[in-house]
Amino acid sequence: MLCQPASRSLKVLAPAKLNLFLRVVRRRDDGFHDLETVMTAINVYDTLLFEPGESSNISLRVSMALSRNSHSVTADPIPTGPDNLVLRAAHLLRDHAGGMQGAQITLIKRIPSAAGMGGGSSDAAATLAGLNRFWNLGLPRATLLDLAAKLGSDIGFFLGESSTSVCRGRGELVEPLRLPTCLHFVVARPASGLSTPEVFKHCRPNRTERGVEEFIQSMKQSGLGRMVRLLLNDLQAPAELLNSEVRELRQKFKTLPVLGHQMSGSGTSYFGVCASARLARTVAERLRASGVPWVHVARSCS
Ligand code: C5P
Repeated sequence: MLCQPASRSLKVLAPAKLNLFLRVVRRRDDGFHDLETVMTAINVYDTLLFEPGESSNISLRVSMALSRNSHSVTADPIPTGPDNLVLRAAHLLRDHAGGMQGAQITLIKRIPSAAGMGGGSSDAAATLAGLNRFWNLGLPRATLLDLAAKLGSDIGFFLGESSTSVCRGRGELVEPLRLPTCLHFVVARPASGLSTPEVFKHCRPNRTERGVEEFIQSMKQSGLGRMVRLLLNDLQAPAELLNSEVRELRQKFKTLPVLGHQMSGSGTSYFGVCASARLARTVAERLRASGVPWVHVARSCS
């Protein structure tokens, strides 16, 4: 997350994430699932602008950014009422701090929703960190992480010190990792999205013997060969059953010059790891030409 303070406002860039490894370990009694997942932030960003509000009012304005690289930003409606994670995060933070500060928040969306790219979670994390600074609350990261866990499972990842982490529990236990090198991706999102609870409902936990430690070991080796062979997403099989567009993307990626490919999170976004930025641009052109509505060339954030 990048913070750009100005005299009376604060701008925060909230990155998307990709899941390089996602193993569903077990279904829990509280309805969530224990996971082992390696996530990396990429340079596709929503923008949040925090400005002084009228009195104690916290208001939110959402607009969709037009993208040069894609036919359209996916047009799924973003809730702007109290259900929006940005507003929930702002109110939770203010209630915790016990103040009555106001803010006018503008959210410019570039990260597609219902895509498994963590857009809503990243916006919520940017709100917690951004307003902590904008309102001069001085709350420590540990407190922000506690608040993040109350709002959603993968919000803590975006508050982490590292842009790549292994996350456990339901996703809220974040341990920083280092990627051996900058990774180049091509990321595609079909026209339709998927609901996260729906995909989790259809998944079969503990399908995979292979744990996250082997994947982490492969990240420490030089060269990407072993790591890309160990890419995993246990949510991909249920997502493909629920959404034929994910299946079609997998078929397309099989014919493209990528080192490895899979779905991110609970879908429907799908990514390929490419040997270079140039190759990623070539793959992106081929995906666009085949009619995929949202295609981005991205790299892991340093
Ligand atoms: O925590 P978050 O709001 O992102 O989760 C959305 C939904 O995804 C949960 O209500 C739950 O159905 C499912 N989920 C899960 N196990 C996780 C994370 C999410 O079952 N570890």
